[in-house]
Amino acid sequence: VSRMVEEAKKLAGYAAVDNHVKNNQAIGIGSGSTIVHAVKRLAERVKEENLNVFCVPTSFQARQLIIENDLTLTDLDRHPELDVAIDGADEVDSDLNLIKGGGGCLTQEKIVAACAKSFIVVADFRKDSKNLGEQWKKGIPIEVIPMAYMPVSKALQGQFGGVAELRMAISKAGPVVTDNGNFLLDWKFDKVHDWNTINTAIKMIPGVVDTGLFINMAERVYFGMEDGTV
Ligand code: A5P
Repeated sequence: VSRMVEEAKKLAGYAAVDNHVKNNQAIGIGSGSTIVHAVKRLAERVKEENLNVFCVPTSFQARQLIIENDLTLTDLDRHPELDVAIDGADEVDSDLNLIKGGGGCLTQEKIVAACAKSFIVVADFRKDSKNLGEQWKKGIPIEVIPMAYMPVSKALQGQFGGVAELRMAISKAGPVVTDNGNFLLDWKFDKVHDWNTINTAIKMIPGVVDTGLFINMAERVYFGMEDGTV
């Protein structure tokens, strides 16, 4: 990834933490490469301003990030209501609907985002899109119960068209297994859909745990731009 993209991720992560984090908050921590910058900034602010904040992870990776940065780890049992959740996205459309789950963490990300009063997204300029699918070409990630991956992919293709592929691991023979012990389908759709309707329809297929469509959830999206602005 070019240095410009990494710098853009950092700008977005810093802006979100500086604008939305306050003392005594419970904060959802997203997954991916952009959130790494936000967590670094959060750790800086906690030290400098002596903040008392509680962090709920959205994945194994997020949990490690929280621990490595000496932040206070908590969970939804102790903090079922979060003040803010910050997370990355694979693509954002002009209505702030998102595709997430490129890193396979969509289900826990959606649970945590839904528990937050504000859901704030951090991304670089490449994620900014008018319609979903214009930038992100890998399809919509869908987490499925392992025994259901074939019927779910057939149902997806039969009802909505496109192609649904089982996501395969890179350094292991076999499928990617999520933090929840499930499989992932990447559904490459062939046209623009009514995303709210289709999201509900996909969730109704038996075996679907959740989808990477985040509809009407994001309150604000910070894009780090190529010219150094946010
Ligand atoms: C994880 O499953 C995803 O939803 C990530 O939040 C998303 O892919 C963004 O990741 P990057 O910040 O690495 O682009």
